[in-house]
Amino acid sequence: MKFIFLSGSFHSNSRSLAILKNVEKLFGEHETEILMLDNLPFYSGDLNSDKPEVIKALLMKISAADGLLVCSPEYNHSVPAVLKNAIDWASRPAFASILKDMPVSIITQAVSPVGGARAQAHLKLIFDSTLSKIHVCHEMMITQVNEIFDDEMNISSTKILERLDRHVTDFIGFAERAQP
Ligand SMILES: Cc1cc2nc3c(=O)[nH]c(=O)nc-3n(C[C@H](O)[C@H](O)[C@H](O)COP(=O)(O)O)c2cc1C
Repeated sequence: MKFIFLSGSFHSNSRSLAILKNVEKLFGEHETEILMLDNLPFYSGDLNSDKPEVIKALLMKISAADGLLVCSPEYNHSVPAVLKNAIDWASRPAFASILKDMPVSIITQAVSPVGGARAQAHLKLIFDSTLSKIHVCHEMMITQVNEIFDDEMNISSTKILERLDRHVTDFIGFAERAQP
């Protein structure tokens, strides 16, 4: 199967991107790809009727996926705009888009003890609107995320690695069962 990873941040020290890079190896023989979303124009109905190449490429990759894995920080109690913008692009036409029936799993992270719980809840609401198949599981929220990495942004916390492994294994099974 092929899994597309969507991050909620793209700066040079992005913890979300680092978590996704760490998680890639947990997918074993399955194909994975992290999409860069920070070069996308803001969604506009005008652009949607004559889509830029970057948007065509985004939609093509998402439509070919068997599942999406999102890893995001929480920004002001919600979802970062860069991620929301990509979801908005993929969400048209409403209720019949490439996100319909797409298995989606969510990881949020924060330095705070809340672990991005509000962003996680908002993401579920968003993927509810796109009629996606939201991975029902032990919610994967990482608290005190600043303590889980070594100097090379490898995850050094055994506890977090175990939780991520359980989460990914469960998601792969979920995506397999969701296959048409
Ligand atoms: C604009 C902005 C808003 C933020 N708002 C929140 C927030 O509401 N709740 C929270 O727990 N952390 C908040 N943070 C902190 C980040 O979510 C946290 O540091 C996270 O680990 C950053 O992830 P990243 O490296 O993937 O960008 C905010 C950070 C920024 C830049």
